[in-house]
Amino acid sequence: MGVLAGKTGLVVGVANKRSIAWAIAQAAAAEGARVALTYQGERLEENVRDLSAGLADPLVLPLDVTDDAQIARVFEEIDSTFGGLDFLVHGAAYASRDDLSNPFVQTTRDGFKLALDVSAYSLIALSRGALPLMEKRGGGSILTLTYLGSDRVFPNYNVMGVAKAALESTVRYLAADLGPKNIRVNAISAGPIKTLAAAGISGFSSILQVYRDRAPLRRTVDTSEVASAAMFLLTDAGRGVTAEVLMVDGGYHATGM
Ligand SMILES: NC(=O)c1ccc[n+]([C@@H]2O[C@H](COP(=O)([O-])OP(=O)(O)OC[C@H]3O[C@@H](n4cnc5c(N)ncnc54)[C@H](O)[C@@H]3O)[C@@H](O)[C@H]2O)c1
Repeated sequence: MGVLAGKTGLVVGVANKRSIAWAIAQAAAAEGARVALTYQGERLEENVRDLSAGLADPLVLPLDVTDDAQIARVFEEIDSTFGGLDFLVHGAAYASRDDLSNPFVQTTRDGFKLALDVSAYSLIALSRGALPLMEKRGGGSILTLTYLGSDRVFPNYNVMGVAKAALESTVRYLAADLGPKNIRVNAISAGPIKTLAAAGISGFSSILQVYRDRAPLRRTVDTSEVASAAMFLLTDAGRGVTAEVLMVDGGYHATGM
């Protein structure tokens, strides 16, 4: 029996088979979890429904994380179908293409608000929605995905780096707030992986090459490696871990030059 048998989870951020969130959803389902997936807009609905067909008894719901009414509907639906929630995976992030290619000093007010709203505030809103459902289960595990661009400057990562800094700080504040309810909140800081979101960052291929050249493992990571680390944080194996940013990047973060 899998380590997540009898558990239920919500995974936000699946766009296609290359999404990190999809690898995590698959790994959780393989460990016996029943999973709810969301899709952002009709454009991605077919992708997510097709992928979910390979999971046992999935729930598939629309969700734009900037829309509070949709967030409320997702948790109502999960409550009535699952009767509670054991884990939440937050894999949503967005910044406008201009803000991922123009000089950072040109970041617009609207672009800043949008990036921070989708990529950082949404973790608070989703955690608030998950809270009563996790309380029904006596606790839970919340996991988000971040990148080293929160702390160091990478070309064109720009406002997304600022959003990831806010996201990592949000992880710590949520962990402190929800810890007494036995809800853990962590992030995985993944190395660069070619996904839909990554394609929006100008010059992303050159970042991949730097990791191949300089990371201690001399390679990039793939989504299954991020999913393995996610299983540690989402399951009992990680029961003592909260407020943590776990680096899954082949060790790149430790390099000086
Ligand atoms: N790919 C990488 O190199 C890398 C590295 C570190 C961290 N991350 C992070 O991993 C997470 C997943 O990204 P990915 O690389 O798998 O790319 P992806 O494009 O597959 O996933 C990003 C997801 O965000 C969703 N999203 C964007 N705006 C949304 C909104 N308003 N409402 C709901 N969903 C919305 C998209 O629909 C998509 O499913 C992101 O937080 C990303 O920043 C990615």
